[in-house]
This record gives sequence, C-alpha cells and structure tokens, in this order.
Amino acid sequence: MGLLVMEKLEIFDKVEKIVYVTQPSPVVLVSTVSSNGIDNVAPFAMFMNCSNSPAMVAIAISKKSDTYENIKDTKEFIIGIPKEDMLEKLYKAGEKFDKNISEFEKVNLTPYKSKQLKCMRIEECIVNIDCIFENEIATGNHHIIVGKVIGCDIDKDKYSDDKVLLRGNIPNIYHITGNKFMIDGEYNEI
Ligand SMILES: Cc1cc2nc3c(=O)[nH]c(=O)nc-3n(C[C@H](O)[C@H](O)[C@H](O)COP(=O)(O)O)c2cc1C
Repeated sequence: MGLLVMEKLEIFDKVEKIVYVTQPSPVVLVSTVSSNGIDNVAPFAMFMNCSNSPAMVAIAISKKSDTYENIKDTKEFIIGIPKEDMLEKLYKAGEKFDKNISEFEKVNLTPYKSKQLKCMRIEECIVNIDCIFENEIATGNHHIIVGKVIGCDIDKDKYSDDKVLLRGNIPNIYHITGNKFMIDGEYNEI
C-alpha cells in the first residue's frame, strides 16, 4: 500500500472552474463570413486536432456567437495561428461586436483571399488553415465544431524542405483563463 504524501481536498462545488486547471491551450483566430457577406474574426482557445488522415480539427464554440452561426450557414471557416505580437488584437477580437461590423476593420487585421473558400485568411497569422464543416457535437453550453482541413498556408520563412521550421514557436500564444496568457513561456496579462 502506497503512502499518500499530500492530503487531498475533494471539491464538488467548483467543477465548473475545471478550466483553471486544464489550461493553457493554444488560442486560434477563427475567420468566417456571414450569409450576407460580412467577414468575422474571433479568438477561440478550446481548440484541438482530432484526425490526421483526413486532417481534421475541432473547436468548442458557444452557440450564441456569430462564428457558430456563420459556420452553420456557410459550412466553412479558416483557422489562423496568431503570432506572439498579436495578443492585443486577438483579445479585442473577442469583444462582442455588432454582427454587421467586420472585426477585420475593428481590430485592424488584414484579410486576404483563400483559394478555395469565401471566408478570408488573416495576413498577420503565421498559418491559415482552410476548413469545411464536417460535423457537430453538442456539449453543454458549447458545441464542438469539427472541420475537415482542405488547405493551408504558412509564412515562407517558417517552412523549408517540406518541414515546418521553428516548430517551438507555432502556436505561441496560450490562453490560461480570462485575461491571462502564456507567450513563449512567459506569463502575460492584458
Ligand atoms: C483568449 C480567448 C479565448 C476564447 N475562447 C473561446 C472558446 O474556446 N469558445 C468560445 O465559444 N468562446 C471563446 N472566447 C470568446 C469569444 O471569442 C467571444 O464570445 C467572441 O465575441 C465571439 O465572437 P463572434 O460573436 O464574432 O463569433 C474566447 C475569448 C478569448 C479572448
């Protein structure tokens, strides 16, 4: 029988704060377009890869967000991996803006065309990943949106001979909770 060194505290009433012990996770920017053509960008930290072949990614998104509605309407989205100097823009893009206003203009991000999708890639991001809506799983107050990856680009200086260079720096903004982030191992608050 093992010796229990640390006394354990059972916490039943705080399970909704589980995110405080499971973070940090990488934050991505999700770009979508509404059915009437308004571009949208917002940050999401509940993000993961969920298949290699075919490549698929998943994000847990609140049903109240414009991002959720746009993905359901258009069946497409783009994931941008932000650079470390984008924290302020990324955080501002998380504010609630009127659905008829594009966050690209509000937070000063630069859109450019994807070869295959109607929604816009984000110039300032290191990587942009084009996704087609695959399926959805209802999970409490969020829905996990699964996307099939159909294309991707990367800053040229991060890529050579079929290899991603400087892998340790991609992605490099991690969300802890609220206004707390880790960037390159350093604690940041905004
Ligand atoms: C760092 C950060 C991470 C976030 N992660 C998520 C997330 O994983 N899921 C989610 O539903 N909302 C998340 N949010 C909140 C959304 O970004 C926020 O609700 C935003 O207004 C949604 O924008 P939209 O309505 O234009 O889609 C996050 C916000 C920040 C600042």
